[in-house]
Amino acid sequence: MKRSRAGWDIHFEVGGSLAPPLADSQGVTRAEVQAELRRCREVLPKLQGPRAASGFVRMLRRTAALRAVETSAARWRARKPSDLIHIGIGGSSLGAEALLRASAHPQHRLLPDRERGGPRVHFVDNVDPETLGSLLEVVDLRRSLVHVVSKSGSTVETAAGFQVVRDALERAGRKVRWPEHCVFTTGRGALGELGAREGVEILDFPADVGGRFSVLTASGLFTPAVAGVDVGAVVQGARRYLSRIANAAPAENSAAVSAVVAYLMAERKRKGVHVMMPYADALEPLARWYVQLIGESLGKRARRGARTTGVGPTPLAARGTTDQHSQIQLFVEGPADKWVNFVSVEKSRRVQRIPGGDPADYLEGIDLGTLLRAEQRGTEIALAAARRPSARWILPEIHPQSIGQLFFALELQTAYQGALYGIDAYDQPGVEAGKIAAFALIGRSGYQKQKAAIESSTPPTWRI
Ligand code: PA5
Repeated sequence: MKRSRAGWDIHFEVGGSLAPPLADSQGVTRAEVQAELRRCREVLPKLQGPRAASGFVRMLRRTAALRAVETSAARWRARKPSDLIHIGIGGSSLGAEALLRASAHPQHRLLPDRERGGPRVHFVDNVDPETLGSLLEVVDLRRSLVHVVSKSGSTVETAAGFQVVRDALERAGRKVRWPEHCVFTTGRGALGELGAREGVEILDFPADVGGRFSVLTASGLFTPAVAGVDVGAVVQGARRYLSRIANAAPAENSAAVSAVVAYLMAERKRKGVHVMMPYADALEPLARWYVQLIGESLGKRARRGARTTGVGPTPLAARGTTDQHSQIQLFVEGPADKWVNFVSVEKSRRVQRIPGGDPADYLEGIDLGTLLRAEQRGTEIALAAARRPSARWILPEIHPQSIGQLFFALELQTAYQGALYGIDAYDQPGVEAGKIAAFALIGRSGYQKQKAAIESSTPPTWRI
């Protein structure tokens, strides 16, 4: 179906979080929301300004960066690689995977080459030898492209995955030169230096955009673009969302309102678990991306008067309808500490009518999409009846334009929440301690002191 640009607009339905009908202790009042919205006024103008703490908003204006991704992706598509191996972790992988799954054919990897029109895509975002080892057994590296994404260029998991794949490329044939099979999206670290030395194609990982906010940069766009996703339309969707909210009244800014409600739920209503539950398989990786975005951005130490305390909601991913048979019992009757965010899609891209007959004759003629939407509303109604708050992001249809809007809205929502908590949403100091201990344990030079400290400590054990 053809739509005008406004036809792709996403919306946020917050009625299920309001008091009344919920009790004041369970839901938010309009007055509470209005009061906190006042604290959000400066966030967007600051993010658009030259000295913003993060460039993820400003970067939407950088048309040359988008062009570089599209041009390079078109060149690689013309070479017809059979497979694309995306190596990265955290924000350097989740965004690309979420965007690809949301925008490409749902069975992308299973399509015959001619219909797929781009390579099969594999994400390597762990150092599990079984995953990478088995992948290398089945892909033909001589026909593959490897996209390595690391802003710092020094992340241990990404370096390990890349070094294994490079070695396999070097052994794949006498004519294979590994740099000719690689694209690096990186900054000025060791990976960038290696790439420059060896003549690898390098796409810029903008210095002012952190990993989990990088889905609309080369980090998140290049892999889907090579696979055939219209990434220009994704960015256009994000730009459209920005222009929709930039001049809107605060109460019409869905990123700000959703952030305020999230903040109030966690800080005033004892609802510290925030569930992201899309009713669309294509959006399942987006829920995982969101969990990382919220967890790493908002889980921080914050000053509260004279003391320091840990803040931030605990994000949880679920999928409708599947998790109705798993977690919904907990959400409806378990501890009243959850705020459920649905994502619903008004129109599925396919119609799949259910034939009649046993064991469920009443389903005759109903489309699976209609059933999916009825189940989403049913869950919302069940939560409301149990006096549990929820909200809903609404997409008219899954399309690069609406997906671009949703990614950007959720990034902005996170930035607004960061401001409300009074924390830096763009750093991740809590990740460092584990990294240092792991380096010590593998015997990395320079970490001898930490190794000795680990070995001399005697942590309690109780192994059964
Ligand atoms: O969001 C973040 O900043 C992190 O999750 C990073 O993306 C992750 O640690 C990978 O870092 P890098 O891109 O430097 O390899």
